[in-house]
Amino acid sequence: EPPEITKQKAILRQVTDMMHHLLVNTTSGEAALAYLTKRGLSQATIDHFEIGYVPGDRQLMKKFLDNREVSYDDQRQSGLFAEDDQGQLYDRFNDRVMFPLKDQYGDVIGFSGRVLDAQASQAKYLNSPETQLFNKSEVLFNLDQAKNQFKDNGGAVLFEGFMDVISAYQAGVPTGVASMGTSLTAEQVSIIAKQTRHLTICYDGDAPGQHAADRALGLVGNQPRLEVGVVVLPDGQDPDEYIKAHDAEAFQKQLKHTLTPIGFRLAYLAQDRDLSSDQAKLDYIDAGLKEVAREADPVAQSVYLDQMSQLTGVPAATLAQSLPQALQTAPAPAV
Ligand code: GTP
Ligand code: MN
Ligand code: MN
Ligand code: MN
Ligand code: MN
Repeated sequence: EPPEITKQKAILRQVTDMMHHLLVNTTSGEAALAYLTKRGLSQATIDHFEIGYVPGDRQLMKKFLDNREVSYDDQRQSGLFAEDDQGQLYDRFNDRVMFPLKDQYGDVIGFSGRVLDAQASQAKYLNSPETQLFNKSEVLFNLDQAKNQFKDNGGAVLFEGFMDVISAYQAGVPTGVASMGTSLTAEQVSIIAKQTRHLTICYDGDAPGQHAADRALGLVGNQPRLEVGVVVLPDGQDPDEYIKAHDAEAFQKQLKHTLTPIGFRLAYLAQDRDLSSDQAKLDYIDAGLKEVAREADPVAQSVYLDQMSQLTGVPAATLAQSLPQALQTAPAPAV
C-alpha cells in the first residue's frame, strides 16, 4: 500500500473513532442517538457499524485534525472538507449521523452522512466526494463483514440502501451489501461474483426500487457464475420498513421466498400494464414468452406459462403453442 494511502486511512480511522465517541458518549450526540434509537437500532448495532455524529459548527473536524498536526494538503485530500474562495477548509458534513464506508479489508475510505429530519432543502444523504480512497463505483457497503458470512448463509443479499443492510444485520441477516446510492455497476457485480455464487436481490418494494432491481438483473445476467434470486417486498416497503412492520423472522422468510430472474421479469412486465385491455394482454404475452423462451428446462417453462396464464386468463397450453415462435426472436437461453 502506498504511504499516501496508509496516511489517509489513518486520518479517516481517527475521525471515525472521534465521531462515534461524539454520538455515543457526549451531549452533542444525544439528538442523533435518540434518532437512531427511534429507528430501532440497538447500541450493539451502532457499535458494530461504528456509526457516529458530527455537530453543526463546520469547524469541528478542522480543529480535530489541526490539533493532530495533519497538514493542509492531507486534510484537503481527505474528502472531509469543502473549501471557500480563500482556500480555507471547512467541514463538509454538519449536523449529520455519520456512517463509515469501508473497503473490503475493513479500512474506512469515506462517509455517508444522514440528516436527522429530512427537509426538502437538504439532501437526505451526503457522501464523501471521490478521493484517492473512495471510488463510489466499486464500494459495497458492509462487504468487509458480509463476505465472511456468505458461505454459511446462502450467499450475498444486495440491498438498495445501506440502512437496509444495517436493519437486516440486526434482524439476523449478516450477508447484506449495498451500493452507495448510485445504481449498481458492473464492477460491483464482479466484486460480488468473486466472493460467492449466490446472490439475492432485495431492493425497495416501490416502483423505483423494482425498476432498479430489473436493471440490476440485467447487469448480473452478464455473470454466468452467479445464481440469482429476487425478492419483491409487499406494500412498496423497503427492507428496513418491512422489518419494522413485521419482524426478523418474517423478513428472513421473505429472503427465502425468491423469484427466479425470469419469474421476476414476468411479474415486472405485468406491473405497469393494465391487463384488462386486450392489447395490453397481447403485448404482455409477447414480451413474456420471450422471457420464457430463455428457459431451457421444460418443467420450469411450464411453471412460467402457468404464471402467465393466471395473469392473462389465456390457457397455458395455448401460450405454449406460441413458444416456438418466441424462441426465434428471443436472445440466447439463460444458463
Ligand atoms: P432512509 O430514509 O434513511 O431509510 O434511507 P433508505 O435506505 O430508505 O434510502 P433510499 O431508499 O431513499 O435510497 C437508497 C440509497 O440511495 C441510500 O442508501 C443512499 O445511499 C442513496 N440516497 C438516498 N438519498 C440520497 C441523497 O439525497 N443523496 C445521495 N448522495 N444519496 C442518496
Ligand atoms: Mn462503541
Ligand atoms: Mn428508495
Ligand atoms: Mn429505501
Ligand atoms: Mn428506508
